[in-house]
Amino acid sequence: MWDAIWINANLATMTPGSGPYGAITDGALGLQRGRITYVGPAADLPSPPEQLATSVHNADGAWITPGLIDPHTHIVYGGNRAGEFEMRLEGATYEEIARAGGGIVSTVAATRDADEFDLTESGRVRLERLAAEGVTTVEIKSGYGLDTETENKMLRVARRLERLLPITVRTTFLGAHALPPEYQGKPDEYIDLVCEEMLPAANNETLVDAVDAFCETIGFTAAQTERVFKVARALDLPVKLHAEQLSDQQGAQLLARFGGLSADHLEYVSEDGVKALARAGSVAVLLPGAFYFLRETRLPPIDLFRRHNVPMALATDSNPGSSPATSLLLMLNMACTLFRMTPEEALAGVTRNAARALGMVESHGSLEQDKTADFVLWDIDRPAELAYAIGANPCLAVIRSGEIVRRAA
Ligand code: NIG
Ligand code: FE
Repeated sequence: MWDAIWINANLATMTPGSGPYGAITDGALGLQRGRITYVGPAADLPSPPEQLATSVHNADGAWITPGLIDPHTHIVYGGNRAGEFEMRLEGATYEEIARAGGGIVSTVAATRDADEFDLTESGRVRLERLAAEGVTTVEIKSGYGLDTETENKMLRVARRLERLLPITVRTTFLGAHALPPEYQGKPDEYIDLVCEEMLPAANNETLVDAVDAFCETIGFTAAQTERVFKVARALDLPVKLHAEQLSDQQGAQLLARFGGLSADHLEYVSEDGVKALARAGSVAVLLPGAFYFLRETRLPPIDLFRRHNVPMALATDSNPGSSPATSLLLMLNMACTLFRMTPEEALAGVTRNAARALGMVESHGSLEQDKTADFVLWDIDRPAELAYAIGANPCLAVIRSGEIVRRAA
């Protein structure tokens, strides 16, 4: 006997190569020990549902998608940057604020000051907003500590959030996010610290699932990034990169040389960079919230990603400076309206391609036999509604590892 079966459901399986959304109308989903054991038309079930599973759930015609995955967030941090938002409204740019000692560095000060309890509480509130919209997996980066103690504090909070909420957390070490004030004018010395002390220390505490860096004029050079990547690979950790957000630093090519999981942002990537991502099988993680909030005008080259078959994922980039967003569904809408992605591409971007960006595609990101039973029931008539509506939350229920963890009131 299976543990459970869901019947009377329309399934957006998001399985590649099986038609739009991998849709199965009047489908059924069988679960056993937290995994999917059957996915297909109800008509093809070998016996009546009651004979197949201990509990039978009626989805009442709801659509079911895989649990949503947010593959790029900085959701753990102290303070906020509403004041900087006001400065930008008066004409200052993101880069000018960063160069004047504001920006990321001001969040670093607030994060160093916050204790683990406060960071957990503020992070929990934001993460809960994502979870309420059907997010079952989230990536969380460090990068507002920029010293060993605070980076580890952030990563411990990220791990704790996984125990507090029904959400799978993947942590990313982002020590090379910005230059801390105490290393002003000494970026190479700071990279020494990242490589020799910070990253190994975080990894020793098993706090790191992947390693990221900010390769940018206001971040680190490609050569500095490469040093961090070498240490990551020596520790057997996969790499990702904030690449080509504000200018073309050929970060995508660098990331590809290291077989990285994903290059993120990418507004300024060249066709050579796109081809390099294609060859390496890396994912392009697009961040429409940051594009919108920084009023960027240069679009990421969606057509080039399509033409070269680079999988596109979407994420909130939830952070206090460039994307104070806690709605992944809003990102689907923005990806369609701002980037002209299709609703199906947008949904693939927060399911199977997001899973690939986190190295989890074998077990997550689509409704397929043997994958983890993370899925969401939606009160919609067609999957495109998830990208169409602004500010709606049609989430009816969330199932994680086969357990019902949320039901709409
Ligand atoms: O993804 N680009 C660098 N990192 C973040 C912004 C962080 C911040 O401004 O606090 C981003 O946009
Ligand atoms: Fe980011």
